[in-house]
Amino acid sequence: MRVLVTGVTGYIGSHAAVELLDVGHDVVGVDDFSASSPSVRAAIERAAGRPIELHELDLRNRAAVNCLFDKGNFDAVIHFAGRKFVGESMDRPVRYYSRNVGASINLAAAAQRHRVEKIVFSSSCTVYGNPAQLPVNEATPVAPVSPYGRTKVAVEDLFSDLCATDPNMSVLSLRYFNPIGAHPSGLLGEVPQGTPNNLLPYVMQVAAGQRSTLSVFGGDYDTADGTCIRDYVHVVDIAKAHVRALDYVDHVRGFDAMNLGTGRGSSVLEIITACRIATRRDIPYQIVDRRAGDAAVIFADPTRANIDLGWRAEANLTQMCFDHWRFERAHLAPEAQAS
Ligand SMILES: NC(=O)c1ccc[n+]([C@@H]2O[C@H](COP(=O)([O-])OP(=O)(O)OC[C@H]3O[C@@H](n4cnc5c(N)ncnc54)[C@H](O)[C@@H]3O)[C@@H](O)[C@H]2O)c1
Repeated sequence: MRVLVTGVTGYIGSHAAVELLDVGHDVVGVDDFSASSPSVRAAIERAAGRPIELHELDLRNRAAVNCLFDKGNFDAVIHFAGRKFVGESMDRPVRYYSRNVGASINLAAAAQRHRVEKIVFSSSCTVYGNPAQLPVNEATPVAPVSPYGRTKVAVEDLFSDLCATDPNMSVLSLRYFNPIGAHPSGLLGEVPQGTPNNLLPYVMQVAAGQRSTLSVFGGDYDTADGTCIRDYVHVVDIAKAHVRALDYVDHVRGFDAMNLGTGRGSSVLEIITACRIATRRDIPYQIVDRRAGDAAVIFADPTRANIDLGWRAEANLTQMCFDHWRFERAHLAPEAQAS
């Protein structure tokens, strides 16, 4: 297939591009580089051994999106582009509705108009908010507690309504749990802008000596060690799910949503231990107050993706931390590498 990949130079989009190229798809990438760099293109091409087509484009520009589809001849779209931070979305909701919902409306309209009927969308476990029952399956009520989560639900609703009225359309929304890790080549990984918002990039910067200590939010949750539990899943496993998802939307019509997780939760302290082993460095931390809105435990029931996509997360926590560190280390200043 000739696949339009939005947000292709971002963390997950770049890994997915490599997997798509590996199985023989052609990748046409778009990105506005608001949260990534054009240099990621070369890393994708080196990792995959094949070129991609790349366009600089802001999906909020409707005319530019239409122009892209006029010339594109796409068979399918995988839509990664957007902002992804819960905290930032609380401070800047309009930015989230514009970049996540506004951009998706342009994309959906252009896809329908140009009869590009297969779409895979990057959703998130944040759509479930603080679920009452675990593990979280797709029948768990959607109840987001942040603007970020609500934008993901809004885009899922958009695609669901589109499929309900246009029987040839096929959209699969993939609800990622907590992607971490990096490509085993060391060429691709997560490059946080400023202070990392997610746990793993922060832990790695502490290991690298770029930050002195990690603040663990809450040590008195009702979990074995008192810290929050999440379902961490290797970014390459997530990327591979998109290859399966393309096959799925090629054969099944309508809207559907599936969880992508391992089905196993790990606590913050377990992550710190795994990162100490992977990095062979000390990771000083202090337990501080809980953060408002954090659920104690969330992990996925990935049965639907296991059965309907034939996909299963394979990497364990140690592998994820090793791979994350390999990339982080490769991008450190030489003095930090040696210390
Ligand atoms: N990384 C996670 O922890 C996580 C978890 C769940 C869901 N997701 C979702 O997966 C998707 C990809 O996440 P990621 O971690 O790769 O994020 P990322 O920030 O690394 O990548 C997103 C990419 O989209 C681009 N972009 C943003 N707005 C754009 C616009 N208007 N036009 C064109 N390009 C634009 C950015 O420049 C960036 O390269 C996002 O939709 C995110 O919400 C991510």
